[in-house]
Amino acid sequence: MHPLAPEEHGASGPRTLGEYERAALERLAGPVADYLLGGAADEHTLRANTGRFADIRLAPRVLTDVRHLDTSAEVPGIRLEHPVMLAPTGAHRLFHPRGELATAEGAAQAGAAYVVSSYSTTSFAEIAAATDGPLWFQLNPLPDPEFQERIVRDVAALGARAVVVTVDTPVPGTRNRQRWNGLDLPEGLTYPMLGALAGLRPKAGAIHRPALDAGFGWADLARLIAACPVPVVVKGVLRGDDAARLVELGVAAVWVSNHGGRNLDTAPAAIDALPHVASAVAGRVPVLLDGGVRRGTDVLKALALGACAVLIGRPALCGLAVGGAAGVRHVVDVLRTELEMAMALCGVTTVREVTTDVLWPVRERE
Ligand code: FNR
Repeated sequence: MHPLAPEEHGASGPRTLGEYERAALERLAGPVADYLLGGAADEHTLRANTGRFADIRLAPRVLTDVRHLDTSAEVPGIRLEHPVMLAPTGAHRLFHPRGELATAEGAAQAGAAYVVSSYSTTSFAEIAAATDGPLWFQLNPLPDPEFQERIVRDVAALGARAVVVTVDTPVPGTRNRQRWNGLDLPEGLTYPMLGALAGLRPKAGAIHRPALDAGFGWADLARLIAACPVPVVVKGVLRGDDAARLVELGVAAVWVSNHGGRNLDTAPAAIDALPHVASAVAGRVPVLLDGGVRRGTDVLKALALGACAVLIGRPALCGLAVGGAAGVRHVVDVLRTELEMAMALCGVTTVREVTTDVLWPVRERE
């Protein structure tokens, strides 16, 4: 078992991702907490992301030798020690003074690959220089293709093992809980990866909504894939037909996500969309999933339904807010340890061989 680190967090410190969320809420100013935890509109999808995991029952298999567990997994450009990665989230310096540098440190210590957001408050160059851990870089389609191609070439040269293109945000979602737009940063913070984008308001590198390219389509994605020196992963896919077309276009992985319930309310829970995407992809490229992963059993269920790895968004930021690098590391360690326990209790020993056999049959659930 991968050891937790109780000595650093004390018997009274958070022990679960839920406890990290409550501890973060106590520390963060209201608007920052709303930016972190809020979802779109009435938050049906946000709640479903976690709730639908709980609806799935596991089918423990007994009398299996589970002394040795292999949690390794593979995603484009990286062989992972375990299948828990950090999803891209913006503005880490709102949560901790060291921001993305603390996140990268905690991720590397926990053996978790970190997907750096283009809305980071630290440049990719600084993050890459500060960590040995594997990094991907995430990009929202921008209305300036040449600038975009320069960014992907730059981050690839700096060591990004893949570029993630987020395609579920042609326009921002209706985030009623957010009391600020999540994009105007306080004085002193900037988005260095985007600050140079033509047409941006110069103030503190802040970025306006029109910086999202609502016209970005299949041909633009094909052009970006051709220009990108590293594999391109597409994030924000829920439909099987879109997934199949992406594989034909040459993406290196398809990432099932509803943006943590932050964009289109009443879109399906990520775990409900996963089987549709996995079946359309049919093993041709890896499938990833994020949205609502809070327990090791959630990770196991996602693996069973076709994901090769999962990503966490809010929980890592809660860890960052509560304990900096150590908090991020502990959040990943908790999830990894819970996954190992769930695997052992279900009688499976290898992450790559988890199948629907670990799930209680759906007929019985209804
Ligand atoms: C996000 N997410 C996100 N996604 C993305 O592609 N680029 C980004 O810059 C951001 N920024 C961001 C900020 C914050 C505060 C949150 C909570 C989320 C979405 C993120 O990558 C991921 O899809 C979800 O967070 C996954 O759901 P959970 O794990 O938060 O339930």
